[in-house]
Amino acid sequence: MRLGLVCVESLQPDDKPRNTPQNARVNSVCRKMSSTVSPSLRPACPDDLDALCRLELESFEGDRFNRRQLTHLLTRAHATTWVVENKSGRLLGYGTLLFRRNSRSARLYSFCVHPEARGKGIGRRIAERLEQESRERALQKLILEVRADNRRAIGLYRRLGFLPRRWLDDYYSDGCAAWQMDKVLEPEDAVGLVVAG
Ligand SMILES: CC(C)(COP(=O)(O)OP(=O)(O)OC[C@H]1O[C@@H](n2cnc3c(N)ncnc32)[C@H](O)[C@@H]1OP(=O)(O)O)[C@@H](O)C(=O)NCCC(=O)NCCS
Repeated sequence: MRLGLVCVESLQPDDKPRNTPQNARVNSVCRKMSSTVSPSLRPACPDDLDALCRLELESFEGDRFNRRQLTHLLTRAHATTWVVENKSGRLLGYGTLLFRRNSRSARLYSFCVHPEARGKGIGRRIAERLEQESRERALQKLILEVRADNRRAIGLYRRLGFLPRRWLDDYYSDGCAAWQMDKVLEPEDAVGLVVAG
């Protein structure tokens, strides 16, 4: 299952992250931001590319991001990606938000958990972290598309406060329709989040 593949294709991706001092610094900062809770949540870094490619293969049946697209998401796109990893450093899931310049909304662009790690709250943690980041950026809305037959993801999104807004016929490569869903990030929710957090 995939969220709007077309957009990344059009962003002129490269096929591997460059071994630049900047990427080395990003790798190091992201690893330091890892939470102490296991499995831990941290921002993705260019070094995660191989593991993210594997996760895509293992988590989605079709419409996967390829290496070039993932490289672009990690290094060039106006985007943020958070990953969850276990104690031995194996990636269990990831989620990516795409931002648009001059827009107060962000798009949940990709989101998955390894099949063996599902049903343990990892998906919810990633989604909540992405929402938190949106609030930190003072965004007002989160948008996503989800396969109409993906009951598990739709259930999770609904429990997180997303509402179905638009039915998109024939949205995926196999002809499956999508629901476009969104969540308005109310300012009072932001206060609740800080108190609860
Ligand atoms: C959708 C996905 C990311 C959810 O990840 P996850 O780690 O399994 O999710 P969680 O464990 O946080 O569970 C999320 C919710 O689903 C519920 N759930 C768990 N197993 C379920 C099942 N078999 N059917 C329906 N709901 C289920 C949980 O109770 C939980 O609800 P709660 O938080 O209100 O208690 C994961 O199933 C996945 O990667 N699917 C394949 C890729 C995909 O579809 N991505 C979404 C693209 S839009």
